[in-house]
Amino acid sequence: MKDFEGAVTVVTGGAGGLGLALAKAAQARGSQLVIADLREDALESAEAELSAGGEVLAVRTDVSQAEDVEALAAAAVQRFGKVNLLFNNAGVFASGVSWETSAEEYNWVVGVNQLSVVHGIRSFVPRMIAQGDECHVVTVSSGAGITVNPGFCTYSMTKHAALALTESLWLDLRAQEVPNIGVTVVLPGMSRSGIMTPEKTAPPTLQDDVARRRDNSMLTSLELMMQAGVSAGLPAEELAERVFTAIEEDALYVLPAHDDEGSRAFATAIGTGRANGVNAYPPFVDALLDTLRGVPAND
Ligand SMILES: NC(=O)c1ccc[n+]([C@@H]2O[C@H](COP(=O)([O-])OP(=O)(O)OC[C@H]3O[C@@H](n4cnc5c(N)ncnc54)[C@H](O)[C@@H]3O)[C@@H](O)[C@H]2O)c1
Repeated sequence: MKDFEGAVTVVTGGAGGLGLALAKAAQARGSQLVIADLREDALESAEAELSAGGEVLAVRTDVSQAEDVEALAAAAVQRFGKVNLLFNNAGVFASGVSWETSAEEYNWVVGVNQLSVVHGIRSFVPRMIAQGDECHVVTVSSGAGITVNPGFCTYSMTKHAALALTESLWLDLRAQEVPNIGVTVVLPGMSRSGIMTPEKTAPPTLQDDVARRRDNSMLTSLELMMQAGVSAGLPAEELAERVFTAIEEDALYVLPAHDDEGSRAFATAIGTGRANGVNAYPPFVDALLDTLRGVPAND
């Protein structure tokens, strides 16, 4: 997809962070906008900001719920007559130890990071096929979609799933000879956003669970290191431009921080290790744990 003038773009998690930057980038290219988010206040202020640049529909949506995503698709088509570009972008991160994380917390992260992509594909792709005009589906996975770190159980498993599902979408469109829909999966490294405050969207029943990650010194150090990384990360606007370049080039992947050789070496070692049945983690994880031991464990 190269021409966005008059197109209709839907962005989940569009009230902040990367989602808002993607919405602005789409609008700058002449697209009409639909933004969806769980947080009503943030959605209202994003809608007000974006409305200065063109027509915007804001729909309060919980992407973990199939009926919400279906209602989002229906609202977009009712308002603008079609949808050309879908960003499955909404996502949450909360660190945790795999055996201590509650079943409810696993379900929350699976719902927001993984089932959201299922719902997005099921609600939007049939409409795009029926439209027959140029369309594109983008999933925002993560560098954690091709790597795993200690403390990342819910995040990595769901981002791996989001990657595999989006690759499945590309393969199925090719196999079913659907010519009008492109697919891109984004695997960002650290980028500036509100990702490190999961409290803002965790269900009320999970607030204590999510806060409990700070009782574990390894997780606290990890969170501090990640907060610092996100604050110093790629500006969301730059990442959004990289994503649009990939859409224009019909590229399947946007890789993590292109300039971060350490992340690239880690991802390559894991991929090669998996293909050859070799555990590639020890040197990388030992180095990470050494770094974490040097991070003050209080905030
Ligand atoms: N920031 C990073 O360093 C980074 C790195 C890799 C991947 N990502 C991914 O980028 C995407 C965007 O995240 P971000 O970094 O901009 O974080 P963010 O927290 O700033 O934005 C995420 C948005 O999703 C919304 N959201 C959360 N739960 C929702 C739900 N159930 N339904 C609808 N909306 C919901 C939030 O309200 C928020 O506006 C996520 O999928 C995230 O996993 C971010």
